[in-house]
Amino acid sequence: MKIFLDTADIGEIRQAARWGVLDGVTTNPSLYAKVGGSYDDILREVCSITSGPVSAEVVADDVDGMLEEGRHFATLAPNIVVKVAMSENGLEAISRLAEEGIKTNCTLIFTSNQGLLAAKAGASLISPFVGRLDDINQDGMIVIRELAEIFAIHEIESEVLAASIRNPLHMTQAALAGAHVATLPFKILQQMVHHPLTDKGIVQFKKDWQKARESAAAKA
Ligand code: E4P
Repeated sequence: MKIFLDTADIGEIRQAARWGVLDGVTTNPSLYAKVGGSYDDILREVCSITSGPVSAEVVADDVDGMLEEGRHFATLAPNIVVKVAMSENGLEAISRLAEEGIKTNCTLIFTSNQGLLAAKAGASLISPFVGRLDDINQDGMIVIRELAEIFAIHEIESEVLAASIRNPLHMTQAALAGAHVATLPFKILQQMVHHPLTDKGIVQFKKDWQKARESAAAKA
């Protein structure tokens, strides 16, 4: 399963890239609002850090507006993927951008039928929002599992991108459910790295090493 970082924070993206675990990045207007500045500049910089897909989200409601924003984002870097929210106009924009060879990520997916339509329209990434479904007492992981199975059965090339990941358990569950990609906040990536027994073990190994060195030095 590929791992994307769900952030517009350059520092976090650089860190994950240094760890060798970064396959791409997703941004959205809310994540951009947290960092501010020029969205174009941020996208260019992110695309210089990773050669993986970097999602840039359109905000227009009409097809022409979506196309205009999407075409603009696509000029910023070759690895830009235009993020379009699921809607009737969104499907049309996805289909038109696909005809132009511009890759899209269909966002705000909450049912397998929405995901199937987005794939049919030509989106290369399909983003079901796991956490937001869990928030309303529905099992978000069901949509991931169903879409992964549907795409496998029908040999659909679009990839299922588990989005709205809220905890490390979601990552394990998404991987087991067959997600091709999961996008997660940096904090959850850090949580995945750590385990109390790992951290305790590192401290203990260091202590024992020092003790052994001191005793060897005393005998010499
Ligand atoms: C990513 O593509 C989504 O925009 C993001 O994962 C949404 O996460 P949230 O539900 O925590 O805002």
